[in-house]
Amino acid sequence: MVLSIESSCDDSAIAVTEIATNKLVFHKKISQEIEHSVYGGVVPELAARLHAEALPKILEQCEPYFKKIKAVAVTTSPGLAVTLIEGVTLAKAVSVALDIPLIAVNHLTGHIYSLFIEKETLFPLTVLLVSGGHTQVMEVRSLTDIATVAKSMDDSFGESFDKVAKMMGLGYPGGPVIEKLAKEGDRKRYDFTVPLLRTPKFAFSYSGLKNAVRLAVEKSESEDYKDIAASFEYTASKHLVHKLKKYFQTNPPKNFAIVGGASANLYLRGEIKKLLQPYNAQLLLSDLEYCSDNAAMIGRVAVDMYKQGMFTSLEEVSVAARVKM
Ligand code: KG4
Ligand code: ZN
Repeated sequence: MVLSIESSCDDSAIAVTEIATNKLVFHKKISQEIEHSVYGGVVPELAARLHAEALPKILEQCEPYFKKIKAVAVTTSPGLAVTLIEGVTLAKAVSVALDIPLIAVNHLTGHIYSLFIEKETLFPLTVLLVSGGHTQVMEVRSLTDIATVAKSMDDSFGESFDKVAKMMGLGYPGGPVIEKLAKEGDRKRYDFTVPLLRTPKFAFSYSGLKNAVRLAVEKSESEDYKDIAASFEYTASKHLVHKLKKYFQTNPPKNFAIVGGASANLYLRGEIKKLLQPYNAQLLLSDLEYCSDNAAMIGRVAVDMYKQGMFTSLEEVSVAARVKM
């Protein structure tokens, strides 16, 4: 079995996965959403302190598996430096105490492997990753062959939902609450401009849309928020669909996946499904409980890394921080 630890942002999570079968035998996640909600976003130092309390508590529950653990995996990048270090420190301690090797896992590879929890991998795969930190399209050929073909030039898709929720005083995270509000609203009432419509560049941008929404919020009453939320979600999703449609003209998808916290958005899932229809492409999605950050996805990557002997020495393990948050 491998023990995996995730602490790249505001979720403290540990999983235990069976190497031979990919079976998830243990998974526990403690989210910090309530603690950060009052600030309208994640406060890194607060998150780090909460990880330091939560991770050892979860680890205690894994004790029955200790004898069978062959390696300890941990998210090392990208993420918040102060929170990643909490997971890495614990992983190093486990590595020394149990005398087992360390596996350094990339968080984004983790999101891709959220598709394969308790399953076999399926490649090649075109992946749209939409989370709080990233919006990007990747061509994934194998565990070690992942090419990013487009990414956001500023805010991410999930982050823009968080910011819109903050403007409306709806707390953090914004995705689920904006999606719920949007369901009651009129998608066509506010005519927000779809970003980068006239640029041929395969890239994403959400800062302009965010500012347009800010102006609309400032000029409106709270009873208009549902229509603003609906029009925002419509435009934010249309931007992704528009850029992907162009990309597919020269790169028709065979297997396509949406991963990351914001892949839980049912409106986006529906729009992507429609987009894929003419291509007869298979759409892969993670179970809703594994869309947002978790340790099961990190454990699933670690199983494949273990099989390929991709270990990192204790001295080499360090965190690679994401500069922007
Ligand atoms: O993958 P994740 O848990 O953390 C990062 O790696 O960033 O993603 C969290 C992000 C947050 O920005 C959250 O608002 C967004 O995913 N999110 C959603 C939805 N559920 C979560 N965005 C849009 N619609 C949702 N239903
Ligand atoms: Zn994530």
